Amino acid sequence: MKVLTKDSDSISILAFPDEKVTLGDYLLVHQVGQRESLVLQVYEEGYLELNSVTEEIIREELLSISGEGILHDPHDVGHVSRIIRDLRVLGCKTRGSIVENGSFSMGSIWLPSRAESTISRLSTHNLLKASGRKLGHKIDIGTTVGEHGFSINAEDLDGCLSIITGKKGSGKSHLAKLLASQLVEHGAYVFVFDVNDEYHALEPETIEGESKVIRWKPGDSLRFTMPYIGRSSISNLLSNVLETPGVSLREFLRIWDNLESQDMLSLSRFGDAIRTWKCNEFVREALSSRYYALLGSRLFIDNDDNAVTIEESIADHPRGGLFCISLKRLGHSARRLTIETILSKVLELLERSAIPPIFLFAEEAQLYLRETSWDDLVTRMRHYGIFTTFITNQPDALRSNVYRQADNIFLFNFTNETDLDSISNASTADRDTLRAIVKTLPTRSCVVLGRAVNELPIVTRVSSLGLTALGETRLFFNDRTKTPQLLLAVPETNDSQTRLSIK
Ligand SMILES: Nc1ncnc2c1ncn2[C@@H]1O[C@H](COP(=O)(O)OP(=O)(O)OP(=O)(O)O)[C@@H](O)[C@H]1O
Ligand SMILES: [Mg+2]
Repeated sequence: MKVLTKDSDSISILAFPDEKVTLGDYLLVHQVGQRESLVLQVYEEGYLELNSVTEEIIREELLSISGEGILHDPHDVGHVSRIIRDLRVLGCKTRGSIVENGSFSMGSIWLPSRAESTISRLSTHNLLKASGRKLGHKIDIGTTVGEHGFSINAEDLDGCLSIITGKKGSGKSHLAKLLASQLVEHGAYVFVFDVNDEYHALEPETIEGESKVIRWKPGDSLRFTMPYIGRSSISNLLSNVLETPGVSLREFLRIWDNLESQDMLSLSRFGDAIRTWKCNEFVREALSSRYYALLGSRLFIDNDDNAVTIEESIADHPRGGLFCISLKRLGHSARRLTIETILSKVLELLERSAIPPIFLFAEEAQLYLRETSWDDLVTRMRHYGIFTTFITNQPDALRSNVYRQADNIFLFNFTNETDLDSISNASTADRDTLRAIVKTLPTRSCVVLGRAVNELPIVTRVSSLGLTALGETRLFFNDRTKTPQLLLAVPETNDSQTRLSIK
């Protein structure tokens, strides 16, 4: 490989046909007498375009058609001509340099000699080591070029906002499952807003056989008592989710206070109180419609024995837990009620240090989070200890301030120009590199940006690790290939059969 041209922080490299590279690879440019070597990242690959090469291709094509006798080539000129035609130009971005003591520094750019410099490959392992990345609680992600294992540190997700985005079916949820289950193996508490009901089949490695996966189905295994959720959370639900007017909200809270003072706070007593409460008929109607919405969500229950308390559930799993909140079969309003209830309760528990910080995995958050909750999650809630990972196939659903505050971004393939625009505008890495690399990423490969990789974009193929494919879209024709008896006999996925360990 040879240096060809330089333009600002971009350098073009001439590569010979046998020097194979993939987009995202790192190269090192050494030069005798220089104390530091330049670190480049390949983001584009094309042929060397010369007029003489075009002429050569045409000439050879014509000769092969017209002159069968012209095969005699004693100096093997044909071979050289073939090499010239297959020369490639690699578009590279300068990422920094590695100095003599082996440490990486960003931003130092110098002009390498075309004649004297030599170019070699730089493995991501060596690059990250040079950048000073320390090993902590390892989370295996997959492999980089050359089949080197690639992992990040759980510490780099701790206290952070992360985003996983890419087009449909590119492997986002699969990566999220890898992250979530390994966080839990390290003893963390992970809450998942599980839109497709696909996380509960994970089996993080356990000690002494105790399961770390808790599947919460709102209205079934996830129900709360009203006193547990508390006055301020219910009042938030009423105003934010159920859009209760101010006057009605005040009456609701007065009924609450009245019942609480008599130690009679329960859902059924609330219904009775609304019917007999002295108030304007319009207000009563507004109150009853909100009351029936709460009742209809089946999220609240009067019986303490069947109710969940988040702090106790966490205490029951002292070595970490994966709490899957299954949102699959819920209507829009019940979904939002569930999410807002959990978020406000968890926040209250964190504020009084009743639970340790949690990691939150929010799949397709645009379906159930209101605008202000986004801001809250990326700022206030994060401060108290809710560390969110957003997973979405609609990058424009995340506002640009969410991208700007993200510490880690995992980008899968996108081909749609609008999607490419929204990710390249929003992320900190340079536009050219991202657009070019992301467009050509194979499925199940992603670019990792941000803190986990010391701000050096790394392309990795996500490992399979035997995860089950519960998130797969159920297809019409797949079912048709099974016998009708089988379909009748097994209407639902049998969890025990699909459970597989990731280790
Ligand atoms: N690295 C991988 N190794 C093996 N299988 C994978 C890998 N990544 C994804 N898959 C499989 O590919 C399919 C699609 O992956 P996944 O559900 O993660 O995609 P997605 O991006 O979340 O899609 P959607 O946008 O529909 O939610 C699944 O069956 C999953 O098990
Ligand atoms: Mg998914």
